[in-house]
Amino acid sequence: KANLAVKIAGLSLKNPVMPASGTFGFGEEYAPFIDLNRLGAIVVKTITLKPLIGNPPPRLMETPCGLLNSIGLQNPGLDVFLREKLPYLRQLSPPLIVNIAGKTIDEYAELAERLSAAEGVAALEVNISCPNVREGGIVFGTVPAMAARVTAAVKSHTHLPVIVKLTPNVTDITEIARAVEDAGADALSLINTVRGMAIDIKTRRPALASIVGGLSGPAVKPIALYAVWQVAQVVKIPLIGMGGITSAQDAVEFLLAGATAVAVGTASLVNPKALVEIIDGLERYLLEEGFGDVKELIGAAQF
Ligand code: DOR
Repeated sequence: KANLAVKIAGLSLKNPVMPASGTFGFGEEYAPFIDLNRLGAIVVKTITLKPLIGNPPPRLMETPCGLLNSIGLQNPGLDVFLREKLPYLRQLSPPLIVNIAGKTIDEYAELAERLSAAEGVAALEVNISCPNVREGGIVFGTVPAMAARVTAAVKSHTHLPVIVKLTPNVTDITEIARAVEDAGADALSLINTVRGMAIDIKTRRPALASIVGGLSGPAVKPIALYAVWQVAQVVKIPLIGMGGITSAQDAVEFLLAGATAVAVGTASLVNPKALVEIIDGLERYLLEEGFGDVKELIGAAQF
């Protein structure tokens, strides 16, 4: 047996595999397919202070290489999350990571404060990288000084570990990563989706009502892997790598590039058992390759 346990920002994970925010709802949908207690962590869909209905449909488009979405942070809001979702989630064994987004820095701070006071939240993931909302979202994730301000505001309103989620839709992701680390982030998650679009040639209209959306799935894996590798060179805090991970082999690549853990998103929408298959495949890889501990893989690619 190989040791799969890792630590991220003070959280002990029994293995380094977790769902990517937004692709796992609040967990319940996957319970019929997989044992949620096998996951390294649980990561839920972005929560905002007030409920959001999101962008008008169509807002999901499958392309041959990946999935385009323009959901727009649809979620039931903080009060409903605390009342109706958290009681179920906190009785699961994996640490619960709650993803948050605000329209203003004060909203991020308020979310951080109220979630920290709730029992059962293990860490916050700060979404400054949603490509699909006008206010908040990516506007905070593309300017180093803004990314730093959101991070510092959240840090000063919580005792929980703070993971900041980065967008690839920037000229230099290492610049954002450095600013966020300096502002006190305990870990980084990367990447969020890559901006893209599609056109329906019969109607000659954009496939998504919002025209632009975020691309995920196999198409973005090389982009994500490169981002993780670049950021791993410049920060000391741990990284959660994601973007197109579909197999254990993909997960291994992210670990070798410098990620301490990985998240699986689009693959779970195609195959709801993807997360546990990746955990099992990762252990098999370690045994086959003669590793006793998954930590031996982290950043171990020779360049
Ligand atoms: O691609 C994304 N879609 N990234 C996010 O951060 C949020 C999500 C949405 O709700 O639009």
